[in-house]
Amino acid sequence: MPFLFKLKIKNKFTSSEIDYISGKIFTAIQKEKRLTNRPLEYIKKSLKSGFFFVAVEKGNHVTGFIIKEKLFSDYYEIKSWYISPGKRNSGSGSKLMNSALSDKSIKYLCVTFQPKVTDILKHYGFKQISLNQLPMNLLIKYVITRNLISVIRHVFVKKSYLMIKQ
Ligand SMILES: CC(C)(COP(=O)(O)OP(=O)(O)OC[C@H]1O[C@@H](n2cnc3c(N)ncnc32)[C@H](O)[C@@H]1OP(=O)(O)O)[C@@H](O)C(=O)NCCC(=O)NCCS
Repeated sequence: MPFLFKLKIKNKFTSSEIDYISGKIFTAIQKEKRLTNRPLEYIKKSLKSGFFFVAVEKGNHVTGFIIKEKLFSDYYEIKSWYISPGKRNSGSGSKLMNSALSDKSIKYLCVTFQPKVTDILKHYGFKQISLNQLPMNLLIKYVITRNLISVIRHVFVKKSYLMIKQ
């Protein structure tokens, strides 16, 4: 697709880029019901980590993003994978995902409520597992990094899928 030639994946930003890009990402997340809300301050902090990958087109126009976040030891979580509605199904989501998964020496977890996304994640080598298959240290870290309500929802109410790539 022609626009892909102009698409860059960035994970290093100046302070003024962080101010501008964080606002764009915050607004996009509010509008996309399938993504968990994240406070603006969290987005700003994550943009400084080097693990927040942003798809930008000419003129610093933000078209997507994905977050990779350390959970425990060599386990990282992949979250908030997003491409602007008008730019989907053209390979830009893949460019983001492949940037986030570029380190082959670590293991990746991803949680989704969408069965369709589990198929896409399998395409990148993820497999579905259950919470009790996680190593105990990782399970503890996993549970404490999200609120109790979302863990209860995961187990009892709305089925979410836990995916791992190792
Ligand atoms: C999920 C999302 C980021 C994907 O972005 P996208 O730009 O449309 O994705 P791409 O066009 O790059 O396709 C992604 C890959 O999945 C593959 N794919 C698409 N549908 C698939 C399916 N049903 N089964 C298996 N693989 C599939 C594509 O072939 C592509 O892989 P390739 O580049 O190696 O060929 C985008 O749809 C989005 O923002 N959705 C709303 C937010 C959301 O639901 N995020 C996920 C939260 S867990």
